[in-house]
Amino acid sequence: MIGLLCFVAVLLVAVVVLSLFSRHRSHVQPGGAILITGCDSGFGHHLAGSLERRGFVVFAGCLYPDGTGAQSLVSQSSRNLKILKLDVTKDEDVKRAKAVIQENLPEEGLWAVVNNAGISDWSEIEWSSIEDFQHMVDINLFGAIRTSIAFLPLVRAAKGRMVYVSSIFSFFNCLNMAAYSVSKRGLEAFADCLRVEVESFDVKVSIIQPGNFGPATNILKMKTGFDMWKKLDDEKKQTFNRQYMQLASDYFMSTCRAGFKDTTPVIEAMLHALTSARPKRRYLLVSKTDMLFFRLYPFLPSIFTDSVFQLSSMYAKRKEMLYAQ
Ligand SMILES: NC(=O)c1ccc[n+]([C@@H]2O[C@H](COP(=O)([O-])OP(=O)(O)OC[C@H]3O[C@@H](n4cnc5c(N)ncnc54)[C@H](OP(=O)(O)O)[C@@H]3O)[C@@H](O)[C@H]2O)c1
Repeated sequence: MIGLLCFVAVLLVAVVVLSLFSRHRSHVQPGGAILITGCDSGFGHHLAGSLERRGFVVFAGCLYPDGTGAQSLVSQSSRNLKILKLDVTKDEDVKRAKAVIQENLPEEGLWAVVNNAGISDWSEIEWSSIEDFQHMVDINLFGAIRTSIAFLPLVRAAKGRMVYVSSIFSFFNCLNMAAYSVSKRGLEAFADCLRVEVESFDVKVSIIQPGNFGPATNILKMKTGFDMWKKLDDEKKQTFNRQYMQLASDYFMSTCRAGFKDTTPVIEAMLHALTSARPKRRYLLVSKTDMLFFRLYPFLPSIFTDSVFQLSSMYAKRKEMLYAQ
């Protein structure tokens, strides 16, 4: 018994010492540079301003460097913020951005890359084409992979941070969100594998999982049920009734509009991932009332998570309205 107690005590001391040691090692470099993708609007845009005000050199990747989003960042910031043209689907943009960053790096190097650029859309699988899936994955997943591979050597040299903006839809299976979920689940698989690989280089990887921040950013894609219905072939027009598609559209838009109106929780999570000595692996950003549900959801058996939809009135309406003219 005494032997066991001694063993536990030694183990506890070892854990405390190890954690103190790792805390000591993982220092933050506020002078370093940070590359953020997708800064024309939304989370990326707000994060760029916040980091510049905190003394970081910010490379703000924008799709449209002459657009209003990029130009408002320039007008509100010091020379520490540089706009780069960066379409994450283009090898040449990434290559050019890397050359500019290398020429303008502060002594502390490239501290972090925030893979934020992304698009969202909604559609049932049968209303979608392979091109819809490819477009989503090209930006949300391959865009982040392309950027990561290019900049990892610089972040590795700085023992810095890689941050990935995912979504609750990486694990929450939901009607209409297949293409987006595929892209975000893939993104998390990539980030999780990367974390294991780069841990030995003292690089830390964090995943940000925002819930519904539709009203706070430009992510919402406006479209009506009719926009989608008119693209269907005759067989599908018989199967998915037009009124249902309008109902689904109205429901989706009203749900998105009910989301957070302010990006602050996400920006604070990103700042923690970038500046804390002990960043979290995952930051889940949903309301307090939804927190328990979303924390449990990934661990529940599929039989239970599938049945969540059977409880939804929208799902019941969908079943009733299929095939109906
Ligand atoms: N808002 C939410 O509710 C929510 C929830 C979960 C996760 N997220 C994720 O958060 C991230 C940021 O989105 P946001 O909500 O801030 O929306 P946003 O305001 O639309 O910002 C996304 C930015 O990415 C840019 N972008 C699009 N395609 C790009 C490309 N090929 N290369 C580089 N940049 C590109 C967009 O430019 P354009 O505006 O010109 O297209 C936009 O500036 C995304 O990864 C998104 O999936 C958002």
